[in-house]
Amino acid sequence: MPGAEFAPLPGFRLLPGFLDAAQQRELMQQVQAVLEQAPVYHATMPKSGQPMSVAMSNAGALGWYTDQDGGYRYIAQHPETAQPWPAIPPVALDVWRAVVPDAPAPEACLINHYRDTAKMGLHQDRDEADFSAPVVSISLGDEAMFRLGGTSRKAPTRSFRLSSGDVLVLGGEARLAFHGIDRVIAGTSRLVPGGGRINLTLRRVT
Ligand code: SIN
Ligand code: FE2
Repeated sequence: MPGAEFAPLPGFRLLPGFLDAAQQRELMQQVQAVLEQAPVYHATMPKSGQPMSVAMSNAGALGWYTDQDGGYRYIAQHPETAQPWPAIPPVALDVWRAVVPDAPAPEACLINHYRDTAKMGLHQDRDEADFSAPVVSISLGDEAMFRLGGTSRKAPTRSFRLSSGDVLVLGGEARLAFHGIDRVIAGTSRLVPGGGRINLTLRRVT
């Protein structure tokens, strides 16, 4: 069917190699400092209580979280240490300012750590009160197959290979595009200590 061909929604931008090797190392060190203060945990899905395969933590005023009883939401403190989230890594803030200069500062930086067979199912980022600011996502470490769709779950999708240093923007009509990570390709980078892939997702929440 000719109409079923994939075209990314306007507002989707993939910026390959946005961060050079030195910037990636600097950001990785800043992320490690955050994770020393705010260790990763396995959040659980609403209703089923199934743990997500991706380990998570956050930086910024608000952090994305989910558990069986409370569901998807933003919280101001680490769920286990009860401490406020550490500040957003400066290199990540520089990326935000460079790629979405007109947007107000991000309030949340979700840190996703993919190890082994971790993946993330197709979803929309829609737990924010305001969708006018873009979502900016930064990849570090192992390569991953990222899947992008449309604003309906049934719309055609396409996969893109993301490498360390790549930056992706979901703005405009693509702000609510379905997306996910099909798989991570182990051993394609040595940036992340102990291996795997780290994704930073910067968002405006309120
Ligand atoms: C996400 O959608 O939260 C993560 C996307 C990614 O890991 O690149
Ligand atoms: Fe997402």
